[in-house]
Amino acid sequence: MTMTKKKFHLAWFTNAIPHGWRLDGKGAATWSGNDTTRWMTGEFLIDMARSLDRACFDYIMLEDHVAFGEHGSARLDPVPLMPLMASATKGLGCVATMSTSFYPPFMLARTLASLDHVTGGRVGWNIVTTSEHEAAQAFGQDQQPPHAERYERAAEYTQLVRELWDGWQPDAIVMNEETGKYVDPDKVKILDFEGKFYKCKGALNIARSPQERPVICQAGTSERGRDFSAKYADTILVSTGGADSYAAMKEIRDDIRARAESFGRSGDEIKILYMVTPLVADTLEEAEIMRQRRQPILTDEQIRKRLEGMGHIGMIDLSGLDIDKPLPVIDITKLEGHQATFGNFYNLGLNGKRTVREICNMHNFSSLDLYGTAAMVADRMEEAMDAVGGDGFLIQCRPLTRRYITEITDGLVPELQKRGLVRTEYKYKHFRDNLMEF
Ligand SMILES: Cc1cc2nc3c(=O)[nH]c(=O)nc-3n(C[C@H](O)[C@H](O)[C@H](O)COP(=O)(O)O)c2cc1C
Repeated sequence: MTMTKKKFHLAWFTNAIPHGWRLDGKGAATWSGNDTTRWMTGEFLIDMARSLDRACFDYIMLEDHVAFGEHGSARLDPVPLMPLMASATKGLGCVATMSTSFYPPFMLARTLASLDHVTGGRVGWNIVTTSEHEAAQAFGQDQQPPHAERYERAAEYTQLVRELWDGWQPDAIVMNEETGKYVDPDKVKILDFEGKFYKCKGALNIARSPQERPVICQAGTSERGRDFSAKYADTILVSTGGADSYAAMKEIRDDIRARAESFGRSGDEIKILYMVTPLVADTLEEAEIMRQRRQPILTDEQIRKRLEGMGHIGMIDLSGLDIDKPLPVIDITKLEGHQATFGNFYNLGLNGKRTVREICNMHNFSSLDLYGTAAMVADRMEEAMDAVGGDGFLIQCRPLTRRYITEITDGLVPELQKRGLVRTEYKYKHFRDNLMEF
């Protein structure tokens, strides 16, 4: 008798930026076509959403940052793309990143409830707190609060938003022709919320949304981040930063599931997806060449740039370091930036055993080193899920091309489907129901 395998989930992590720009780091020479503004129509992402829908992905998640940045950046706000992607697809979940630091909670609750209605119950919210002071200044504040306070605020914020979403009883729309009432106000709770950071007196003026509340996604895995996710998230995005270790993947999942249980939730209510960049080719030799091209030996200048980027993420100055010596001892829990992401980079140093140069050459955002033919990559994904226990993978690739998307959706996914490891159809109408199916 053949045992049916537990299926795992697939999602994609990307953003609304000019994908394809500077493929080789040389500037405009590699931009395909002359129209450098066309990406701003969202066409690339809408086409991509169609491909992911055909391959039955759980969701597409658009990350976001609002700061212009020292070197300048261009990106679209992900929110308006949600209904565009949803109307081009049948079952794909569409997740927008929205910061608790800048949206007033009432506005975020109303926007997401409306999006859940217009997408027919297929929207999600990636909760971020934002660390950059530059973003705070753009919104008229002097600087962002410290790491701990950002999470404290986010928890209260999420609580308030959930209470707003819960405010309308399912039968609040009565459409009573005799009284002329569309809504029965007795079935809508007027909140009187007064927390440490936020106040709200009122109710949403939009009915309870199809999923009751949009799918909640979160990505920080510091101590505080883990508690936050365990309390509120439906799905968590995790990268073990090039560690290529099933043990590192399992540690996070086991820990978050245990925390969820301690908060009275079941671990199965949270789907933990690991960020990976599978490199799929017709032969192993071709895949090896792709891999070398993606992770070349870095020049001194590239290492400095990488350090600058990691310093920005951790909010720590790494500019004066000798790149042929180990990293200094750093207390990750004291960092005001992204602790888990910086921690992954730091841990590659093995407590002083590797130099900065070696660490930078090893570091990437793929939790596993996945490359080879579709069958070989599928083998490794299957093995990883057996070792870790679940719940799936979050694919990402930079630079992102139509070709890469197709290699995954029409090369790798059919191989996984053939083995019964991923879904072949959307069973339910709503995003959360599909996410919780297995
Ligand atoms: C996979 C992944 C995706 C993220 N996406 C965003 C994003 O779109 N916008 C943002 O401001 N922060 C983003 N972050 C940062 C997290 O929301 C979080 O603030 C950060 O990881 C710090 O959390 P920690 O200190 O608990 O690890 C992301 C982090 C990870 C690991």
